[in-house]
Amino acid sequence: MRSEKAAGLDESIKNKADDRGPEWMNKLWKAREGDSAEPAENTPAESLMQAVPRDPKLSMLLMCAHQIRSPLASIQTALNAMRLGYVPGVSGKALEMIASLERKSEQLLNFINDLLNFGRLKSIEIDKEKEWVDLEELVSPILEDFFQRADKKHLQLYVHIEKPLPRIFGHSDGLRHLFYNLLDNAFQYTGEGGEVKFQLGADPSGQRIQGEVSDTGIGIPSECLPYIFDEFYRAPNVKKRGIEGSGLGLNIVQWVIHAHQGEIKVKSEEGRGTSFYFALPVGGPQGKKTREDEK
Ligand SMILES: Nc1ncnc2c1ncn2[C@@H]1O[C@H](COP(=O)(O)OP(=O)(O)OP(=O)(O)O)[C@@H](O)[C@H]1O
Ligand SMILES: [Mg+2]
Repeated sequence: MRSEKAAGLDESIKNKADDRGPEWMNKLWKAREGDSAEPAENTPAESLMQAVPRDPKLSMLLMCAHQIRSPLASIQTALNAMRLGYVPGVSGKALEMIASLERKSEQLLNFINDLLNFGRLKSIEIDKEKEWVDLEELVSPILEDFFQRADKKHLQLYVHIEKPLPRIFGHSDGLRHLFYNLLDNAFQYTGEGGEVKFQLGADPSGQRIQGEVSDTGIGIPSECLPYIFDEFYRAPNVKKRGIEGSGLGLNIVQWVIHAHQGEIKVKSEEGRGTSFYFALPVGGPQGKKTREDEK
């Protein structure tokens, strides 16, 4: 869920996470504890309660993540200033250590940001925010980003989107994360010279969108397949290669799929590649489904 996020996606997430300052969190915490001594000013406790995950463990985790984020960002800024020579007397071995600390703090900050983004997404009540979504329009900026990433990483990205594609009654932001995370994994876990395929189409009834994201990457060991959708799970072959990640991307993917009453399956062979197949019902009230229908 990190590194080069799809166009607009990362910033929107970051901004939303930033909007929720520690004060907001404190109010929420108090509201959750039923502490009426300091009511949430101008914001009914009820709406605060609805805005974060109802799972108390996740809520606690996010609270901690939020508290860690600001001091960590300050530490990183200070280390950066030292490495760039703004602090006199730092040189030699100390400089090397500072560079290493800066990398570690960046990793930690990425993880904290991933956690906060995860919490924000999981707090969405998808059913209440569904609308008719044109998937081709939705994936287009994401794919543009990945074409650039393909160039940089010397990968081939093949895209096939059937037309006309029915609109789907879904949650735009959730669906963006679904496509982004599947593509991000395909890119993250496929080396130079590899191939990534992205396909979207409708089944013959026109009632379901079917898609596939495949790669020719490192694959997933068969014994790990049952766990890959679990929160924080990462297979040993990716850890061994030192590829960074939080183990949250596929959990979000599965959550979005389920919130749309869809299905997702994975096939993978270690050393040969991975394919994710998904299906999403068009859903929603009957009506206009394709751009052509609207003309
Ligand atoms: N296309 C893929 N190729 C190989 N392994 C994969 C692929 N997709 C997922 N995996 C495995 O599933 C695990 C979970 O994926 P997930 O996207 O949830 O987490 P992540 O990529 O490790 O971290 P992040 O939360 O930053 O996305 C990965 O760590 C990896 O072991
Ligand atoms: Mg991932």
